[in-house]
Amino acid sequence: MLSDATKERFAREVAKYPAGHQQSAVMACLSIVQQEQGWVSPEAEEAIADYLSMAPIAVREVTTFYNMYNQRRLGKYKLNVCTNLPCQLRDGQSALEHLCKALGVEDGGTTADGLFTVAKCECLGACADAPVMLVNDRQMLSYMSKDKLNELVAVIRSEEGKAA
Ligand code: FES
Repeated sequence: MLSDATKERFAREVAKYPAGHQQSAVMACLSIVQQEQGWVSPEAEEAIADYLSMAPIAVREVTTFYNMYNQRRLGKYKLNVCTNLPCQLRDGQSALEHLCKALGVEDGGTTADGLFTVAKCECLGACADAPVMLVNDRQMLSYMSKDKLNELVAVIRSEEGKAA
């Protein structure tokens, strides 16, 4: 389940903590697995638990607490739109609905070509910039008007060589 290269990356994270506190690296290990495999499978959770000498349920608690860990396979581009109240007041919900309609998916759905998953998310800490979204848990985009959302989808499709 874990390659030697993955274990080397784990070891570098574990080394950041005092001896005997290897469990502190659990979030970093989950991120590494997700980066490499696209999601955190139950098997991966067990392998991490084993590597860090943790109970599997303790790893599961971390995976399910934070929504940046994917508990199922998603599209290559995970698009999260904030729909918490401050964003709702400035078109957060309509941005989500526009994106879903443009891509032909429901909230939480993945396009048939596996390119996009769209889902609402909780506050991203940039309420004044609404509508706000996050791409692949790393890149935050602000003031996402319908035009900007269309442009984002078009740019990704063009980079991926996929027509609309
Ligand atoms: S409510 Fe959307 S970023 Fe805070």
